[in-house]
Amino acid sequence: MSTNFDGLQAQFENEVASVADAESLRALRDRWLGRKAGLVTDVRKQMGSIPAGDRAAFGKAFNALQQVVETGLERVGQELSQRENSALIERETLDVTLPGRDVTMGHEHPVTILRRKIEDIFVRMGYSVEDGPEIETTFFNFDALNIPEGHPARESQDTMYVSEDLALRSQTSTVQIHAMQRRTPPLRVIAPGRVFRRDTPDATHNPMFFQVEGLNVGEGITLADLRGTCEEFVRQLFGAEAPVRFRASYFPFVEPGCEFDYQCFVCKGDGCRVCKGSGWIEMGGAGMVHPQVLRTAGIDPELFSGFAFGFGIDRLAARQFDLDDIRLLYSNDLRFLEQF
Ligand code: PHE
Repeated sequence: MSTNFDGLQAQFENEVASVADAESLRALRDRWLGRKAGLVTDVRKQMGSIPAGDRAAFGKAFNALQQVVETGLERVGQELSQRENSALIERETLDVTLPGRDVTMGHEHPVTILRRKIEDIFVRMGYSVEDGPEIETTFFNFDALNIPEGHPARESQDTMYVSEDLALRSQTSTVQIHAMQRRTPPLRVIAPGRVFRRDTPDATHNPMFFQVEGLNVGEGITLADLRGTCEEFVRQLFGAEAPVRFRASYFPFVEPGCEFDYQCFVCKGDGCRVCKGSGWIEMGGAGMVHPQVLRTAGIDPELFSGFAFGFGIDRLAARQFDLDDIRLLYSNDLRFLEQF
């Protein structure tokens, strides 16, 4: 018998052991069982030339070889697909017992928290919340507020101009005019909003900040009403009696004008770190609406009078939340914002 069956079998075992993927398995099948040139096929073709006496033994050996090759290929094929399957399961397995991932919830900005609180207090006192544009014409920014041409407040040093006639409002007092044009007395509004000034940013200044304007126009409104309103507001804001004091001051759109302070709620007027030793904390500006302003907005100053006030929310927030730098409020730093 010239065919080395044992050698072929050993060769096959050797080759099948190194099959690593479906492609090399297919190549190996072709090499051994291919119809035209497969190694096993070649052996079968020799069958005809085997002397009759040896043919039975040859056939037996051939069958054994063919059997080894077929089962070997089959076995490796199964192993490959099993390996692929478990890799797939590994990749796609979900552990339903794992805890879920936390969804990060946002919340209100500290200035918004305080603004809402302020709005609530005034709404309870019968005020409505009024809105106005952040970009205003010269009329609303200056003329209607009795700020004449040449007045320093018009200087581009303070005001951010958008064009010759348009500027970002530098105070929410512009909304007083819109409110008086839209409504008829008696009217009570507050107008919280953003204002812009060409200030160099530092611990107490930011070129954009928030103010709240208040306006109350009706028959027989006096300074005493202004004082009572401010006192009530401060009392509700701090949840305790906090006397308010007025100091004479000048704003073109009020007459008389004043600045108002509230007594330091920490030391009750004795002087401490919070009020920098004075016992009082500055709140904002106020006064009786100038007759000229009423007239320009279409309200007869002979029949009606009113008071107005305005203060910054940011500094109030800085004090409420004990911040040493107002710019923190606008840094968008989550480590800061997440504390509220
Ligand atoms: N608008 C003034 C300011 O920004 C404050 C103010 C408002 C003063 C209303 C008087 C009346 O300083």
